[in-house]
Amino acid sequence: MAIDRRGLPDGLCYGGDYNPEQWPESVWHEDVALMRAAGVNLVTVGVFAWSSLEPRPGVFDTGWLARVLDLLHEHGIRAVLATPTASPPPWFSRLHPDALPVTADGVRLTHGSRDTYCPSAPAYLKVARAVCAALVERFADHPAVAMWHVHNEYSAVCHCPHSTAAFRVWLHAKHGTLEALNDAWVTAFWGQRYGDWDEIGTPRATRYLANPGQDLDFRRFCSDALLAAYLEQRDLIRAAAPDVPITTNFVFGAWVPVDHARWAREVDVVAIDDYPSDAGPAAEEQTAFAGDLARGWARGEPWLLMESAPNLIYTPGRMHAKEPGRMAAHSLAHVARGSRGVMFFQWRQPRGGAERFHSAVVTHAGFDTRVFREVAALGAHLRTMTPGVPANRTALLFDAHSWWALQGAGLPAPVDYLDEVRAAHKALGGTADVVFPGEAVSTYAVVVVPALYLLDDAQADVLRRYVEDGGTLVVSYLSGTCDEHARVRLGGYPGALRDVLGIRVEEFHPLAEPVALSTRGKGMFWSERVHLQGAVAEVTYDGGELTGLPAITRHGRAWYLSTRLSSDEYTRILTEIINTER
Ligand code: GLA
Repeated sequence: MAIDRRGLPDGLCYGGDYNPEQWPESVWHEDVALMRAAGVNLVTVGVFAWSSLEPRPGVFDTGWLARVLDLLHEHGIRAVLATPTASPPPWFSRLHPDALPVTADGVRLTHGSRDTYCPSAPAYLKVARAVCAALVERFADHPAVAMWHVHNEYSAVCHCPHSTAAFRVWLHAKHGTLEALNDAWVTAFWGQRYGDWDEIGTPRATRYLANPGQDLDFRRFCSDALLAAYLEQRDLIRAAAPDVPITTNFVFGAWVPVDHARWAREVDVVAIDDYPSDAGPAAEEQTAFAGDLARGWARGEPWLLMESAPNLIYTPGRMHAKEPGRMAAHSLAHVARGSRGVMFFQWRQPRGGAERFHSAVVTHAGFDTRVFREVAALGAHLRTMTPGVPANRTALLFDAHSWWALQGAGLPAPVDYLDEVRAAHKALGGTADVVFPGEAVSTYAVVVVPALYLLDDAQADVLRRYVEDGGTLVVSYLSGTCDEHARVRLGGYPGALRDVLGIRVEEFHPLAEPVALSTRGKGMFWSERVHLQGAVAEVTYDGGELTGLPAITRHGRAWYLSTRLSSDEYTRILTEIINTER
């Protein structure tokens, strides 16, 4: 897509979230001067500003935002104009208590934070459309607006009666009949058979293990319900400003019920927020994976790092100050992976509010700071670079649905899907294209498929044909185990991929302790009783009950890892496999 024609600055974008509504106008002038000094050419305005834009129901105040946009424009800084719908004003919650979200435990949340609304509540959707329409009416033609940014980090989940009713409608459309739903969810187990749609609810707190099919469909429903809310606003904006790109910022995490690979088809520019959760070297690994994943969502097009932390990052228990140079390293890692720029959360550190100590470019201490100097230095550096998108011959397959399904209870051992995928990414040297189930992979020399628990027949066919056409496939344990409804495929694991891999797995042996292998060190965490059905054993177990049985197999160009290798051995084996394909 020709992004430049549709509004973003030429070259690399640089800036971040800017919240002038938190400051008197006199501060705005200092802000734009500092932005110029730091090389900023793009800022996001309007995120969370709903109570300033619509102080009373139906009464809009867009004058201050017009003055901000004019000021930015005068100084050659473009704006990503956000709709504020991630944070309804207090009046909304007071007028529409039915639109406040309900947790899985049945607790109705109250106003006081952000994202406190039910995405299926008619009253919420109505006011969200209205505030979006007010912004569109006033700013569709504003010359500073380089891109529209709908909402913020769609991720809300709700179990209220509105959500429950919408979930039933969604299930009806998906399954068609109750019989099909009962079959997909295997409700014959524990006598959960439904005789009426009204008996079905969202997966609220229950006595013991929940139904995995219900859990999975609820995640999918949440993704679609949020997408519908996004599309309403996107289409309003598009009708008035057809030439300006529209996006929303993707947030990534186990709690996020959003299928970003699907959503990416509905945004003009994939935009991500990235905050590594680790302070050590894993932060760099996470950054590398996040950038490759974003490029995957963007299907090889440029994408944008919409938010990142200029300094302090959240780590469990405390914040961690990024060491000098580290902010630039993370930022450039994203640019190297195809980001159209570097954006921070946030420009100016607030003097109060929940995130008052979240890092910012202009801090509580002002701008005579290490952070500001590093930001300005990076700004100068980015001006010397041109955006580009790398291409890879190796792909890593990622699936949000498998991740969701593996978060459920009742598995033979807790499986951290994201850790499995990141371990594979690290073993690939921290660089690979990321692809999604069912998508063509024929251009890749090697495709790595970690723990792809769910696989439908058509998706399995893509991998089968890939190998038949000479591609090299590396699959790890748990892949192909279930169909798209999380029902286990019968006849032996790895279900859908048995024939491609030339093996049949009779049983799982989750490991409490690492176990020796004939070569390649130790197997960790997981092992399996593997039977060869055409494949050869490249590595066998050399300890415990499975001694002498296959641990790593090869069937032509299709490899299977039935256990987790150490990071070094994983890297070694993937490197060898890739090198033989060169
Ligand atoms: C996300 C949100 C921001 C802020 C940061 C904190 O990116 O969009 O509003 O809360 O997280 O890291």
